[in-house]
Amino acid sequence: MSRRPPRRVEVTARAKLNLGLVVGPRRSDGFHDLVTIFQSVSLADTLVAERRASGFTLAVSHKRAGVGGGAAPGADPVVPAGADNLVLRAARLVAERLGLPGGARFRLVKRIPVRSGLGGGSADAAAAVAAMLALHGRRITRGRRIALAAELGSDVPFAATGGTALGMGRGERLTRLHLARPFRAVVVVPRWRISTALAFRRIDDTKYGLTLWEPTLRFAASLGRKRVTASNASRLGNTFERVLGRQRHHFDLLCARMRTAGLLDPRLTGSGSGVFGMVPALAPAQEIAGRLQGLGSVFVVRSTGRGLRLRTQP
Ligand code: C5P
Repeated sequence: MSRRPPRRVEVTARAKLNLGLVVGPRRSDGFHDLVTIFQSVSLADTLVAERRASGFTLAVSHKRAGVGGGAAPGADPVVPAGADNLVLRAARLVAERLGLPGGARFRLVKRIPVRSGLGGGSADAAAAVAAMLALHGRRITRGRRIALAAELGSDVPFAATGGTALGMGRGERLTRLHLARPFRAVVVVPRWRISTALAFRRIDDTKYGLTLWEPTLRFAASLGRKRVTASNASRLGNTFERVLGRQRHHFDLLCARMRTAGLLDPRLTGSGSGVFGMVPALAPAQEIAGRLQGLGSVFVVRSTGRGLRLRTQP
């Protein structure tokens, strides 16, 4: 087998759900300790990377991936293609840290809605790190990969590994978990969006998470010893649901609609505004999703065992 690095790499970068998420105390570095159960799902962006002699470029296109074609054009925020895009930041960081010669041309096809709590930006960053390593035929230890990823964002280490995991620290300390059985879910991303930084500040003001923190740590410690089910994980709740402010009313209505449509345990993912509900075994997922059209972008997803999939071309 040839050891020459590939010229082109295509990476499938999967979205995540937070099956449960409890925010704990604010730390001296400004981040919050948290306990979350991450789960990779089938909804994914695609990042194509090709080697170039020097410099990095990025072209972004948006594809409507939801049921019924997703939200109307212009209804959702789009991703900037400039230097602050996480793909370019990730590529430059890897090149600099590993002293890689040459650049890359990236094409990103976005399907994961932006600022929805589905981890799209983190998935793209993790994909860019993996693509750069593949294009240069470099392997680094898992520890080094996680450390690089954590510099790009709290959720990037999980995006780089994927599957089912307990996340602690600011989300970057990962313990792999075993999902007792795969599941399907319907995700609705309403038109309103939430600022993650503002949501964390609201938690600081209310101190909601703190009353739950000690029992949450005990729950987390018990998790590694058994297989988790989505409904067991969702018992953690999501602290961000308590600080929705003016959007709480919309969120409650959406959850009620999702239950009526046939979904179980509707829950916010991340700091929102995406809400997911479990599809009961044997229930018609597409039909259920169809009942929710008009409430935002609607997606049918299934749990997956990995966050990234790489395909290389010589
Ligand atoms: O790490 P990431 O870029 O995703 O974080 C975005 C913002 O969310 C941070 O600037 C910080 O304000 C907040 N955050 C936090 N605690 C975490 C993760 C994020 O306070 N565990």
